[in-house]
Amino acid sequence: MADSSEARATKPPADQALREEFNRWAEAGRGEGMEQDHLPITLPVLEKMRLAPADNVLDVGCGAGWLSRRLAKMVPEGRAVGMDISDEMIHHARRSSVDFDNLMFIRGEVAEIPWQPNFFSRMISVESSYYWPDPAAGLRDIFRVLNEGGSAWILINYYRDNPHCHHWGNLLAVPTHLLSAEEWAELFRAAGFKNVAHERIVDASPSPEVYTGRWFRDAEHLRAFKAEGALLISGVKG
Ligand SMILES: C[S@@+](CC[C@H](N)C(=O)[O-])C[C@H]1O[C@@H](n2cnc3c(N)ncnc32)[C@H](O)[C@@H]1O
Repeated sequence: MADSSEARATKPPADQALREEFNRWAEAGRGEGMEQDHLPITLPVLEKMRLAPADNVLDVGCGAGWLSRRLAKMVPEGRAVGMDISDEMIHHARRSSVDFDNLMFIRGEVAEIPWQPNFFSRMISVESSYYWPDPAAGLRDIFRVLNEGGSAWILINYYRDNPHCHHWGNLLAVPTHLLSAEEWAELFRAAGFKNVAHERIVDASPSPEVYTGRWFRDAEHLRAFKAEGALLISGVKG
């Protein structure tokens, strides 16, 4: 049934399913909750990005906007833009960001970023790219909106080289891409990026003695996952 033409005809398009799922996450407060989990792996990336005060930065899949707000403070003479496919995430992000004058949030899909070409000097995306329906098309559009010399930084915890996350695909309600570091790097190169590199970012935050969440079997499984580290892929336009 799943593959019949009738099922295909009634199935919502991928971006609609994503929007609806992440709207549910936003309404449940999960957008704000992700800051605690993602901050320890994001801080080392912010250092590697070497942001200058006048940089214009795009945060793709910004969720509730905690990282975009941090970026806006780091580029006081530039601009931070958070973009997300979920209108509810954008709503939450805007509501928590009224005090900023160099930060804005837009709803959009990464393969069709609603922005002019050659504008941003940096792009970062945290824990989002494995959800993109067409990662190759997303990277091509990121390349389009970056300026010459601009760089893209993608950070993910769900990738093929870490065996301790493969089961997440069955826990998530939307389709995901489980690619290896080399496969991501190849997508970067195919989109036009140069100096493509990948590395592991280890989460050095303390692990609990007892784990009660749904993503890992127990605390030992969580520790094994964290020891592998998150995957960071980067590349430069030009
Ligand atoms: C796991 S959340 C991470 C959110 C945020 N980066 C953080 O670290 O808190 C993934 C986010 O990516 C967004 N997203 C997924 N697919 C997207 C797409 N194709 N285009 C834009 N945003 C997308 C989701 O709506 C969601 O807010």
